Order: sequence, then structure tokens, then C-alpha cells
Amino acid sequence: MSAARIGVIGAGYVGLVSGVCLAALGHQVCIRDIDASKIDALNAGRVPIHEPGLAALIAEHRDALTFTLDLEILVAASDILIVAVDTPPSYSGDADLSRVIAVVDELAAVGGDARHILVMKSTVPVGTGERVRRQLNARGLTEVGYVANPEFLKEGSAIADFMHPDRVVVGAFRGGDAERVAALYTPLGAPVLTTTVPTAEMVKYASNAFLATKISFINEIANVCEEMGADVSVVAAGMGMDARIGAAFLRPGIGFGGSCFPKDVAALKQLAGNSGYHFQLLTSVIEVNELQKRRVIGKLKKYLGDVRGRRIALLGLAFKPGTDDMREAASLVLAGRLLAEGAQVVGWDPVVGDLQGLVGVEIAATPQAALAGADACVIVTEWPEIVALEWAGLADTMANPVVIDGRNALDPAQMTRAGYRYEGIGRLPDAVPGAVETKE
Ligand SMILES: NC(=O)c1ccc[n+]([C@@H]2O[C@H](COP(=O)([O-])OP(=O)(O)OC[C@H]3O[C@@H](n4cnc5c(N)ncnc54)[C@H](O)[C@@H]3O)[C@@H](O)[C@H]2O)c1
Repeated sequence: MSAARIGVIGAGYVGLVSGVCLAALGHQVCIRDIDASKIDALNAGRVPIHEPGLAALIAEHRDALTFTLDLEILVAASDILIVAVDTPPSYSGDADLSRVIAVVDELAAVGGDARHILVMKSTVPVGTGERVRRQLNARGLTEVGYVANPEFLKEGSAIADFMHPDRVVVGAFRGGDAERVAALYTPLGAPVLTTTVPTAEMVKYASNAFLATKISFINEIANVCEEMGADVSVVAAGMGMDARIGAAFLRPGIGFGGSCFPKDVAALKQLAGNSGYHFQLLTSVIEVNELQKRRVIGKLKKYLGDVRGRRIALLGLAFKPGTDDMREAASLVLAGRLLAEGAQVVGWDPVVGDLQGLVGVEIAATPQAALAGADACVIVTEWPEIVALEWAGLADTMANPVVIDGRNALDPAQMTRAGYRYEGIGRLPDAVPGAVETKE
């Protein structure tokens, strides 16, 4: 395999990980961001995001990596231009494509030619590729290729996900472009799905929407289990044994958050709506997810009555373990609701040091300090550090040893034995997590 000259536009969770992994695969990679603090940090040997293994991989492949603020430097140094800028939700629920369009404008200003292929790794609505193609043509960049190449990595396990993808999806307008992009991934040995640009764009949205649907589905099953006295851990395990269903994404909790599922589900719903189709199922998936976060408040009230004046500890603030990403984190919704109801909120997270400026939340230095004197604790994010706490010795330090386990991360029987009033999501109080033994 000959080394490709790759430029990555956007040094965020996707761009930085993809660029560094491509360098590890033997390519020359130039990464550009418009955020000077990120580029300065990278050039000074610091990694601006929390992603396990990333710092070591950058150090190992530093010679194959360049970090710059200048698109002209990137375009001169690269043939394949991977776009990994953010596509956040807009007020209407549609994806905000302003950063993507800005890249096209900037590219027109610095020039591009037949060597170049613009590879869209950002998650963009169906039809974006055709729109960008028209814009490239209108700006005289007719020779620049365009390929849709959605990314499926997950924060927290991003390097392993990039290096061991279930599939690589490549959508192109002309033969040759798809092959050049697919060739980058050949060493990974993953199946490559080559298709049209709109179909590739839809694969990404449909995949995220389906995973979000699985989460909302099992959350509703959990809620019904609570009413019926059934145990959702065992129900999910039993369902997952069916190969047609699969065990993944059947973990009930307080709902999905993060930078992808909420915005991508909303964008697909909006995309369908814009074309006149009412995507009823996704409307419910979103609603169930919103209600699921708020159900925790109901559980707290069950034990505490009014939460006004009560001190509530939130353990885990990031939207999931292994990342510092706070976009659409459940902790923000919970803290906001609790503060609105007059509770005192204290939070702790191993990597997140503040709740995005949410006024009135105290950040504790340790989980023990967060629990000390608390009237209740909510496990919001199942960081290993939180699961591994010496829970048995901590019940006495709380004003009321109430634990609402929003991720079903702890053993109910052990917690009850340790003196807690413990409640998970959809589980029986003394259920053993994931117990699926078959008895004669
Ligand atoms: N985060 C994930 O887990 C994940 C997974 C798959 C796909 N995606 C998609 O990938 C895209 C990027 O997501 P992310 O989480 O990495 O976002 P991010 O916000 O972490 O990173 C985006 C980066 O792009 C930079 N940027 C914006 N405009 C720029 C420009 N003109 N030139 C250079 N840099 C520019 C920003 O400063 C930022 O550093 C999104 O479309 C997202 O939906 C994300």
C-alpha cells in the first residue's frame, strides 16, 4: 500500500481520531482546525479532548502528523481532504451545515484540482452531497471529487472502532473516487459498501436512528417491568439471545445523550418532515428519551418527597464513560430540573470539571465528597471509578442513603445489604444484574 497524502478538516472527536489512525496506517496526515487553542495544544504535545489511547497514538506517529490553522497548507500537502467539522442541530431540528459550506467556500478560495477528493465524514443530511457537488461546480472546482464516507466510531472507544469497523461505507458520484477512498481502509479488512452519495448519507442516519430506537424501546420495556414486577435485565438478556434481535443496545437507563443520537434522530425526523413524510416512530423515540431522564426525578421524590432544599449528588457528568463530551448529557437535564425544583446539586466526574456553566451546581473534588451529607445520589454515567467505589463504607456518610442507579451499573442485592435504599431502572430490588442462568 502506498502512503496517501491526507488532509483532515476539523480536529474534533472524529477528525482527530480519524487523522491519527490514518497516520498509524502509514499515511501522511495534515489536520486543520479553526480553533487556535486546539492546534496550539496539539503542536505543544497536548491532546485537547479526552479519548483513551489517543495521546499515546499521536506520540507514536508524530512524524506523520502536521497540525495547522491554515487550509492552504493542508490543501497543498494533501490529495484526499476529509471533512470532519461539526454539524450541530439548528433551532428547526435540521442539521446546521454552515461549517460544511464554509469549508467549500474556503476551498474555493485556496483552490483545488483533479488530485483532490473531498471526503465527507461529518454526518450530513441526505442530499448534502448533491448540494456540495453543485457548490463545488459553481465555484469552478469541477475536477475536485466528492465522496460520502460516514463515520461510525464511538467516543470512549474511538480508536478501536476506527481500526476495527463493522463496515466502511463509501458513496461516490464517479468511478475511481470511491476506490481511492476505499483503498485507505484496505488494511483494516472490513467489508466495504460502495453505493451512491445519498444512499451512503442515509446509511448513517438510519443506523443511528435504529440504535436510538432500540434504546427507547428497552427503556419503555423497563418502565413496564417496573409496573409489572418483572426484571428488565433478565428480559433484555433473554431477548438478546435471539439472533434476530441481538444483545447490543438493550441496556435500559436514563436515555441517550451525546453529540450524535439526539441530533441525528432529530435531523432524520426533520428531513423526512421537510419532504412531507411524518416519521411517527422517531417522534416517539425522541419523546420516550426525554421522559426517561425526567423519570429519575419521580424516583427521587418517591424516597424524599419534595426535593426542595435536598442535597442531590450526581455521579458522572459526561454523556457516557470514557469521554469528556457534555453535548446533550443527561446530567445537564437532571441538574437543570433539580435546581428548578429548589434542590442543591453536587456533581462529580473523573474528567469533566464543570456543568457547562450551569449556575448553582457545586462540583466536588471526589465522589466521596459528593456523597457526604447528600440526601440521595443519582448514578448518571457508569464510569468504572464510580462502579468500583467502596459503596459499603459510604452509606453512613450520606444524610439519606438513597441511590438511584440510572445506568443499572451496581448490584442491587449488594447495595441493599450495604444499607442503601437502592433503585435502578426496571429491575427488581434484589435482582442480580444480567443473571441469565437456566435452571432445570
Ligand atoms: N462524536 C462522535 O462520536 C461522532 C461519531 C460519528 C460521526 N460524528 C459526526 O462527525 C462530525 C464531527 O463530530 P465531532 O464530534 O468530531 O465534532 P467536534 O465539535 O468535536 O469537532 C469539530 C471540529 O471542527 C472544527 N471546525 C469547524 N469548522 C471548521 C473549518 N472550517 N475548518 C476546520 N475545522 C473546523 C471545530 O473547531 C471542531 O474542532 C459531526 O458531523 C458528527 O455528527 C461524530
